[in-house]
Amino acid sequence: MDKITVSTPNKSYPIYIERDFDSLYEAVKVTAPSKICIVSDTNVAPLYLEEIKKILSPIAPVCTHVFPAGESNKHIDTIKGFYECFIENKLDRKSALVALGGGVVGDMTGFAAATYMRGIKFIQIPTTLLAQVDSSVGGKTGVDFNGNKNMVGAFYQPELVYINSATLNTLEYRQVAAGLAEAIKYGFIIDKPFLDFFITNREKIMSLDSFSIDYVIAQSCRCKAFVVDQDEKEQGLRAILNFGHTFGHAVETLYDFTLLHGECVAIGMVAALYYAYKLKAISKEALEKYERVLLDMKLPVRCDLSPESIYEQMFLDKKTTSGKLKIITIKAAGSYFIDTTAKEEDVLDAIRYITS
Ligand SMILES: NC(=O)c1ccc[n+]([C@@H]2O[C@H](COP(=O)([O-])OP(=O)(O)OC[C@H]3O[C@@H](n4cnc5c(N)ncnc54)[C@H](O)[C@@H]3O)[C@@H](O)[C@H]2O)c1
Ligand SMILES: [Zn+2]
Repeated sequence: MDKITVSTPNKSYPIYIERDFDSLYEAVKVTAPSKICIVSDTNVAPLYLEEIKKILSPIAPVCTHVFPAGESNKHIDTIKGFYECFIENKLDRKSALVALGGGVVGDMTGFAAATYMRGIKFIQIPTTLLAQVDSSVGGKTGVDFNGNKNMVGAFYQPELVYINSATLNTLEYRQVAAGLAEAIKYGFIIDKPFLDFFITNREKIMSLDSFSIDYVIAQSCRCKAFVVDQDEKEQGLRAILNFGHTFGHAVETLYDFTLLHGECVAIGMVAALYYAYKLKAISKEALEKYERVLLDMKLPVRCDLSPESIYEQMFLDKKTTSGKLKIITIKAAGSYFIDTTAKEEDVLDAIRYITS
């Protein structure tokens, strides 16, 4: 239905966007794996694992590894279980891992692929909207370590990403909304028409109307590929994908990860938009309009934390280098702006807005 190519300096690979698994066999066959291990979690495996196993078995011998779902299992000890399974099933350097699940499965399977035998092939089959519009594309893999998010990992690109958007039909709406937050982010920073698409088609998108949601997925992948193609390892441009995240990560940490990542990004984007309003980049009406879109998608746009605690937490973020805040904001809708000389008062005002 749609095929998008990611082209980093070292590797090009396709993203397939489909409404079923009918083309999966052909897509995986060309990677010519000697063996396949499908890695999934305890929520996704009962839904899709048998179907995928049946499709891939004619290509090569298939084994499976299922681990307990949830971010709390995204750590190095869980990866040990992966390696044990790979060794037991004699996976070799020509074998491929298939990540079947959300961002947790994708990040961990990618990391296992990057490190097992110094690197074997891996294929992403993302099943959450967040994974389809964001985490499965771009090659960031890894695990949390002692409570520090994504502290251990590698940049490691997959052979291909295969998205079946019909898998979203089994996902609870709260998780869908969290993915929508990451998708609309691309609209704010680089794609005004995409932002407008969310405003015009919000209800269809929320009800997973197939044309609308497939467009959201495809356009998000195009936006992410556009950024990653230019800056695979976040030396510059890729930082714009942190729009809403500088504030959002602080909120996420202070709530002890009880809110979903995408929900915290929504709150953080409102702060970043208020910051843009303070810089006179967008009008008050625009700020309220964009905030309303997020709210109508059932995303939170406020939090009950103290402004000072958020401000302090922002300096503890691993991406805050040499004690200086870098605020990703916009100079107009669809046009990012990186402010490296942010004033404390402006940042605090933005935080006060989301805590009001
Ligand atoms: N690599 C990157 O660039 C990148 C970017 C953003 C986020 N991430 C990471 O992604 C992770 C979050 O990903 P996520 O939001 O997909 O979380 P997740 O993988 O935990 O999935 C959310 C929940 O939905 C369940 N699920 C998945 N697909 C389903 C389906 N089709 N039907 C029913 N249930 C389903 C999962 O089992 C889980 O309980 C975080 O660890 C984050 O750090 C990585
Ligand atoms: Zn994010």
